[in-house]
Amino acid sequence: MFEIIEKKALASEIVSLIVEAPLIAAKAEPGHFVVVRVSETGERIPLTIADYNRDRETIELIIQAVGYSTIQLSKLEEGDQLLDVLGPLGEPVEIEKLGRVVCVAGGIGVAPIYPKAKELKEAGNEIISIIGAQTEEKLIMQDRMESISEELYLATDDGSIGHEGFVTEVLESVLEENEVDEVIAIGPVVMMKAACEVTADYGIDTVVSLNPIMVDGTGMCGGCRVTVGGENRFACVDGPAFDGHKVDFVELMRRQDHYHPQEEKAMHRCKL
Ligand code: FES
Repeated sequence: MFEIIEKKALASEIVSLIVEAPLIAAKAEPGHFVVVRVSETGERIPLTIADYNRDRETIELIIQAVGYSTIQLSKLEEGDQLLDVLGPLGEPVEIEKLGRVVCVAGGIGVAPIYPKAKELKEAGNEIISIIGAQTEEKLIMQDRMESISEELYLATDDGSIGHEGFVTEVLESVLEENEVDEVIAIGPVVMMKAACEVTADYGIDTVVSLNPIMVDGTGMCGGCRVTVGGENRFACVDGPAFDGHKVDFVELMRRQDHYHPQEEKAMHRCKL
């Protein structure tokens, strides 16, 4: 069992859980994720390790309550236990000195981008960050991103803070004004697709982190299959980070929608 030792609300419907997990904390690297189960009959929920503390033997998970299982998970309190936390899973991202790296994140995508940006900064890179959300109150981890960025730009759909519009519009003006060695883009699939279209015009390498449907998280079920460079890849063991210019985003969006009817039924049961 894995105890929740701290819980914080980061924004409306988004919580951070600090979970005691000594073995996972000892091995976690940026890019890793875990699969969590709340109860015996519960769904397996893949979650990025947003941060880890080897001294405290904890990992941080950030949860957006969008479906039946994430709502159950976000209702847990300090002192409650998670039944399973499986990990660390996935391939860690390569951290090297590249020069200037732009980190673009939308919504809860800030959680997985933060550990990568932090390690890249420690490796001597200059970090420019662009983070966005629908509204100011849904923007998360602004202070942590600010602490590791030379420049931080904000964007919201309603203009309540920062640029009114998409993070990709800010990305375009940042690329216009700066020499950039790499872009990392994490967020909704449609955002990552748009970011890759912008960076392709500038010929800049772009890494994305994919969030397809996952079941086992160990390469056995095929649920997380994505097409990258015309080849089948499994996001849970080959990724979740991939070269964004090679990802078939249209197929990924189609597969993401596949279980919406079942999810709606589960949400309906949840409200009864
Ligand atoms: Fe089953 Fe990746 S989640 S193969």
